[in-house]
Amino acid sequence: MTQAALSHAVSSFDLFLDRLKTELFSHPVITDNRYCTWFAGAAPSKDDVVDFTRQFSVFSNQFLIAQTQRVINAANVEEMRAAKEILANELGVVFRARQSDTQSASGDDVDPDIVGIEGTVDGGTFRFRAAHYEWLLHFAAPLGLGFGDLGRRSVGTPATLAFCDELIRLYGSDDFSVSAGAGFAVENWAAAGFWKQLIAGLESFNTSSGLDLNLGFFRWHDKIEDQHAAHTMAELKDLYFGPLDFDEESFIDAGRQMLDGVQVFWNGLDETRKLRRLS
Ligand SMILES: [Fe+2]
Repeated sequence: MTQAALSHAVSSFDLFLDRLKTELFSHPVITDNRYCTWFAGAAPSKDDVVDFTRQFSVFSNQFLIAQTQRVINAANVEEMRAAKEILANELGVVFRARQSDTQSASGDDVDPDIVGIEGTVDGGTFRFRAAHYEWLLHFAAPLGLGFGDLGRRSVGTPATLAFCDELIRLYGSDDFSVSAGAGFAVENWAAAGFWKQLIAGLESFNTSSGLDLNLGFFRWHDKIEDQHAAHTMAELKDLYFGPLDFDEESFIDAGRQMLDGVQVFWNGLDETRKLRRLS
């Protein structure tokens, strides 16, 4: 690439970053998630926590479909492997430290407060009890929620199902720019701090109810997001300058639609908790 072409590419990347700032990061689900703000500060009741857990479990389970589609629709073998890392880890393959990592994880650990947040599933150990969904089941049990009360579409509200379907359509799309845009949006939503807000609300619920719910599922996801946020810019550059056909317009458009979907989910929970207080 000539010097002139290089500086043109760099300045168009800067313009792209500006667009992300104004068109994605300004989305209300990132800047002003009312349900999560309320949840963190208001000591939710048991009914609130039950509703939240049920809807979150539907999302967690349906996410496996979206992630499987991401594997199937991957644009190249590297993308396919990246998608498999997430899918296999969700299902219970504990990350194994890469040679370069300092952290080491024992293949026998299944507790979310102990198992690693980095490494690879390649050569990792599968444990049923390391599945994220099983952590969630474990969390939900003291609330009186069993396997049959959770995870399936029949217990999802229309808002939750609309979000899950958008996730499958966009995040799992066979159009590389669409799936990348939706993935980027989901990462930035997750890095905006909602896990910390959920943990804060659940900790105050534990204190007020005396139930001692196991928050490992939430703590593990919060830790992985903190670590992931640090890699986001490098990944974005790889996408933009990488070998795959990248369409900026589709990327941003898909990101925005994905964030709209996320907002439908949280708004659904927000309406449920407000309606309960009116009735
Ligand atoms: Fe997960």
